[in-house]
Amino acid sequence: MNELSNTASTLPRHIAFIMDGNGRWAQKRGMPREYGHRFGVKAFRTVLEYCDKLGLEATTFYAFSTENWKRPRREVEAILKLMDTYLAECEKKIDEYAFRIVFLGDKSVFDEKRRARMIRLEELTAMRRRILNIALNYGGRDEIVNACNRLLSENRACVTTEDFEKVLYTKDSPEVDMIVRTGGDLRISNFLLWQAAYAELYFTDVLWPDFGTADVDAAIAEFSTRKRRFGGV
Ligand code: FPP
Repeated sequence: MNELSNTASTLPRHIAFIMDGNGRWAQKRGMPREYGHRFGVKAFRTVLEYCDKLGLEATTFYAFSTENWKRPRREVEAILKLMDTYLAECEKKIDEYAFRIVFLGDKSVFDEKRRARMIRLEELTAMRRRILNIALNYGGRDEIVNACNRLLSENRACVTTEDFEKVLYTKDSPEVDMIVRTGGDLRISNFLLWQAAYAELYFTDVLWPDFGTADVDAAIAEFSTRKRRFGGV
């Protein structure tokens, strides 16, 4: 991970999104929760494209957590199907696709076909500069435990913060500057626990499917007013 910059910057280098509120958005319309996720993907595309246009170096989206398997099977399958459709499209249009895709999370739970596609996309896009992190079967605690096990397997006597960061799923991304959570809840739900150390937190009541470019502008405007001291004065 790159070093923290404590110079005031109006544009974050890296924003991570907790895309919450799809279910409520659908229920308000008398529709099943899956309908909300479908519109959630639309919002994801809009936000990703806009962040790229603004010049962010990395964006991260919390698409599916290690806890989301507890949801009804139908909903889990709907989310994974939306993901498969998006990834198939990325693969098909790989030459037009601008991003380096990195999956944050444990891929080993997925079937061979999905896992192979995830690895292929990571490899095919590895040389690109702008990073799109998709957190899929991701948990912050799981990431930290996984990092510990990686380091233990190397039989080290002790480790530094830098060693640790090199085995996190986000090892290739710049520091997370801001975590944005939609949907009104004020918690981080096992997302980027290590990386949140000095991230600015931004919460909005807007439900994810309604979150658009003006909302990204509002979050960045708020970011630009924050004084980042990183423990200094
Ligand atoms: C949280 O809203 C949302 C999720 C757990 C899933 C988000 C997934 C997507 C937007 C699709 C991912 C696909 C791509 C291509 C990125 P919620 O269901 O918890 O909403 P609620 O709080 O209103 O119930």
